[in-house]
Amino acid sequence: MPRQLFVTTALPYANAPFHIGHMMEYIQADIWVRYQRMMGNAVHFVCADDAHGAPIMIAAEKVGKSPQQFVADIAAGRKPYLDGFHIGFDNWHSTDGAENHELAQAIYRDLRANELIATRVIAQFFDPEKNMFLPDRFIKGECPKCGAKDQYGDNCEVCGAVYSPTELKNPYSALTGVTPVLRDSEHYFFKLSDPRCAEFLEKWTQGSNPRGQTHLQSEVYNKIKEWLLPDEAGRRDLGDWDISRDAPYFGIEIPDAPGKYFYVWLDAPIGYLASLKNYLGKIGVDYDTFVNDPNTEQYHFIGKDIITFHTLFWPAMLHFSGRRTPNAVFVHGFLTINSGEKMSKSRGTGLDPLKYLSLGMNPEWLRYYLAAKLNSRNEDIEFSPEDFMARVNSDLVGKYINIASRAAGFITKRFDGKLGAVSDDGLALLTVLRSGQSGIEELYEDREYAKALRETMLLADRVNAYVDANKPWELARQDGMDLRLHDVCTVCIEAFAVLTAYLKPVLPALAAQVENFLNIEPLAFGKPSVAMGSGHSIGNYQHLMQRVDVKQLESLFEAPALTEPAKPLPGGEAIGPTIGIEDFSKLDLRIVRIVNCEAVEGSSKLLRLTIDAGEEKTRNVFSGIASAYEPEQLIGKLTVLVANLAPRKMKFGVSEGMVLAASHADDKSNPGIYVLEPSAGAQPGMRVR
Ligand code: MSP
Ligand code: ZN
Repeated sequence: MPRQLFVTTALPYANAPFHIGHMMEYIQADIWVRYQRMMGNAVHFVCADDAHGAPIMIAAEKVGKSPQQFVADIAAGRKPYLDGFHIGFDNWHSTDGAENHELAQAIYRDLRANELIATRVIAQFFDPEKNMFLPDRFIKGECPKCGAKDQYGDNCEVCGAVYSPTELKNPYSALTGVTPVLRDSEHYFFKLSDPRCAEFLEKWTQGSNPRGQTHLQSEVYNKIKEWLLPDEAGRRDLGDWDISRDAPYFGIEIPDAPGKYFYVWLDAPIGYLASLKNYLGKIGVDYDTFVNDPNTEQYHFIGKDIITFHTLFWPAMLHFSGRRTPNAVFVHGFLTINSGEKMSKSRGTGLDPLKYLSLGMNPEWLRYYLAAKLNSRNEDIEFSPEDFMARVNSDLVGKYINIASRAAGFITKRFDGKLGAVSDDGLALLTVLRSGQSGIEELYEDREYAKALRETMLLADRVNAYVDANKPWELARQDGMDLRLHDVCTVCIEAFAVLTAYLKPVLPALAAQVENFLNIEPLAFGKPSVAMGSGHSIGNYQHLMQRVDVKQLESLFEAPALTEPAKPLPGGEAIGPTIGIEDFSKLDLRIVRIVNCEAVEGSSKLLRLTIDAGEEKTRNVFSGIASAYEPEQLIGKLTVLVANLAPRKMKFGVSEGMVLAASHADDKSNPGIYVLEPSAGAQPGMRVR
């Protein structure tokens, strides 16, 4: 019986383009979905933009767009990323879609009917100028613990303290700068403190689905049990969850509560169902029948930062509104670039997915590399350019692609494109390869991709050992060895087909190319391995995959030129385009002493400086600082010289460097020029770095 699955990835906030962390999540889920489809299972794989919330509303307002237009513009940019990396979502929707409005309100009504909604008046900061309640992130002030200025309303980035906005000293609104006032407002709560919820969640979080798989990874359960389980005093941290926000808010209206909206995290996961419903509508399948079918399995892929929402609030919302709960939530760690630096949402820098594609880098290299590092656990993984290149070039191309490129030419040129008979040693090898299939299937099922690829590469090693032992290129030169050559090359091509099946969830485009080249049906799992057999005709081999060129990686990680024009600083010059450290290190800056200084006859701007840079000879430098200094003011002073600037011939002589001075380029109110002076102790000849 084919399984019937409904698979999602977290819905990205619709306030920015994707970063590489998003792509990692989509690739992880996409591999699993492709594996399931190869098993003959039916999968609906959906996602959507997470459109609601105050930050998006405020961001839209800043650029003068309606929030709807703002998120539509972000959504319009999604396709090149998804297509580019072969992410096969069946549907992409929005949490602002009609289905989500309906479903969120229906779920809320069901929870209310189940007596799990309460209201309570709470005091919150209100911006009297903007006329709105301020979300925590939009209240700033001094940290109540360490006094650091300009800290957010929820935690201090300096000392790490966590507090509520009302504890900030000298709070101000990040929107208008005014001092917020405390104002009462009625809020709606999901009563998670109800004993029914704790009882259900204790069971659910430790439970398993009908396939015997636990709902949560053990490390994920260990993380949440501190909220869930009562402490020694019998107290639980699981308090009621505030699910309402006051107008103005970009969100879904709460039924029978004018001016109140659902907090974005209430309607966001419901967006999974909304996207599914929207999709089923397109393909003519009844939504209620599908979601109520006990055979439907529901899986969510998410990152470790949103565990509580998905493992506590979401299952409780579903269960207590009379709906089926997820079969499992699969949590992955974060992708980091350059050891441990978190690729955070706000600083989505590091590896720009579109730049990767525009450099002509193969998307399947990235899929392969990430798969080679991913396992079923909630662990961070590191992108290392050297490791990336090594794995793609030595394993993927060196071990796997090479098998086809070494054998296919002979089949075409010498045997009319037809496979031949395989003798016992070859058959034994193919049997080993084919018997690996069920193990590899299980590894994909368990999201142990790194292991699946390791197993596959070990099998590729065996094929390469067979090639090295039989040396088809030598057989081809020997008389009377045609039969053996045909045999050996046939084994290689049969083996290549088997290995391609094992890699197909990770390398779908390549697999399609191979299926086409080998003239075979789509490679599949859950049935005997592919075997083409003697007499089968294959097509012409065309090179299937290039190696990574180190230059591509260099360009990929090159600091981007600033795309936006730099913003002028208040009263000053704009910051210039970003440079890398390698640009800076080209400058040789030295501490020097001005041993002499005199006016330049015929110039009102220039002074002639005699400079001691700790070298054998002094240097002659002209400097445009005559408007600011009398020559004698400078004699004996230390300053900084650009020591490796090419000498420049001027009307009055050759200038052998340039001294550094500060000025405002365009501020007429302060035409001053200020020669740089080092702190005491610096000596002529020292390098400034
Ligand atoms: N909008 C919420 C999710 C709502 S789901 C009902 C959100 N959006 S997000 O855009 O910030 O993140 C989307 C997904 O990307 C999350 O699963 C998050 O964990 C994941 N990642 C964000 N940065 C990541 C990495 N650096 N590495 C891997 N995944 C990362 O949270
Ligand atoms: Zn602090």
